[in-house]
Amino acid sequence: MAIDFHRLKVSEIIRETPEAVSIVFELPEELKSVFDYKPGQYLTIKLPDGNPAERRAYSISSSPHWDEPIMVTVKKLSEGNLSVHLNEKLKVGDYLDVMPPIGAFVPDFETKPNSHYVLYAAGSGITPIFSILKSILKVEEHSKILLLYSNRTLESIIFHKNLIELQQNYSGRLKIIFGLTQYDNNWQGHKGRFTTLNLTALLQKNAPDFREREHFLCGPAGMMRQVLDALEILAVDKARIHKESFTAEDVIHQNGAKKPDVEILPRRVKIKLYGETFEINVEPDDTIVSALQKEGYMPPYSCQIGACSTCRAKAISGSFYMDICEALTEEEKKNGYILTCRAHPLEDNCFVDYD
Ligand SMILES: Cc1cc2nc3c(=O)[nH]c(=O)nc-3n(C[C@H](O)[C@H](O)[C@H](O)COP(=O)(O)OP(=O)(O)OC[C@H]3O[C@@H](n4cnc5c(N)ncnc54)[C@H](O)[C@@H]3O)c2cc1C
Ligand code: FES
Repeated sequence: MAIDFHRLKVSEIIRETPEAVSIVFELPEELKSVFDYKPGQYLTIKLPDGNPAERRAYSISSSPHWDEPIMVTVKKLSEGNLSVHLNEKLKVGDYLDVMPPIGAFVPDFETKPNSHYVLYAAGSGITPIFSILKSILKVEEHSKILLLYSNRTLESIIFHKNLIELQQNYSGRLKIIFGLTQYDNNWQGHKGRFTTLNLTALLQKNAPDFREREHFLCGPAGMMRQVLDALEILAVDKARIHKESFTAEDVIHQNGAKKPDVEILPRRVKIKLYGETFEINVEPDDTIVSALQKEGYMPPYSCQIGACSTCRAKAISGSFYMDICEALTEEEKKNGYILTCRAHPLEDNCFVDYD
């Protein structure tokens, strides 16, 4: 089944920092249920008149539990494609093509009610964390939250004012430790990066019940690695650790790249997509998704970093190498599912069924 983009009108643009904007969408009545979301999920966005392959994932920074419209927050990357356009050219009243929300970086209020949390963010990694944080404060009356949030400079802290206000309004439940790597003598917060060493001390001091808390992390690979190492040293149960990465490099940095056991060669692969069965060539540098795109097909995909499973398909025959397959459960792997955005065919008899 094709996963459709919907054309949404931009109703507001909020300049959060010199390098980040929040984009608020107007949802017509008939799309409200399609865009129902959970805190921590993300939207996939492309320009209406742009190349359909130039799509990017953006975490939803609003909370479904607050009376506020759906919003994403985009940090401009130097020489980035869509993030620069959205920061510099987008105007209120423009339209963007947006896929319905997906993602599993979501707190489980149903089976784990009244949990306490530690949230870790750096830079634009605050976006899903902000949604999660606001949702916990609203939904879970008794939950306590410690947020550790790292940035380069004071000016680059996204949602700084909102977070300070939340800390005041929910004092006793929300504690925030802001960290800066470039600061002046007036800076009262954490100085320098969060490292494995100082994180273990900060957790012991500010959240001594850390082993019973749920931990949510989002940020660049280096910061995530420091947090994961600290949590390992402190013997925090892995089932309590939830992470979201924004790039494939970040995922590989955290998990280590799995190397293929055999050489990857050009292969001819049979595909079933949207009811049609056909064959394509897949070169060693291509995944199934990129090979399909080269042939003019538009398979379902979003993150392209093996994190969302939008590109999931069933391998009817043949074997595949995937450097990342974060988004598949053990059950799905056993049943032959693959993530086609990361899959390279290893045999000539490969048959991939999207339908
Ligand atoms: C699940 C998920 C959620 C995300 N949520 C957010 C979010 O909430 N906010 C946010 O800001 N981002 C988020 N991202 C990241 C976002 O999807 C984009 O990756 C990001 O905005 C960069 O896109 P871009 O088109 O601007 O950059 P791209 O054009 O994709 O470029 C990315 C980087 O590569 C460099 N580059 C590009 N082309 C080349 C080249 N030929 N040679 C060398 N370098 C090159 C660019 O300089 C740039 O720094 C998320 C990603 C995922 C997977
Ligand atoms: S597109 Fe997200 S896992 Fe493949």
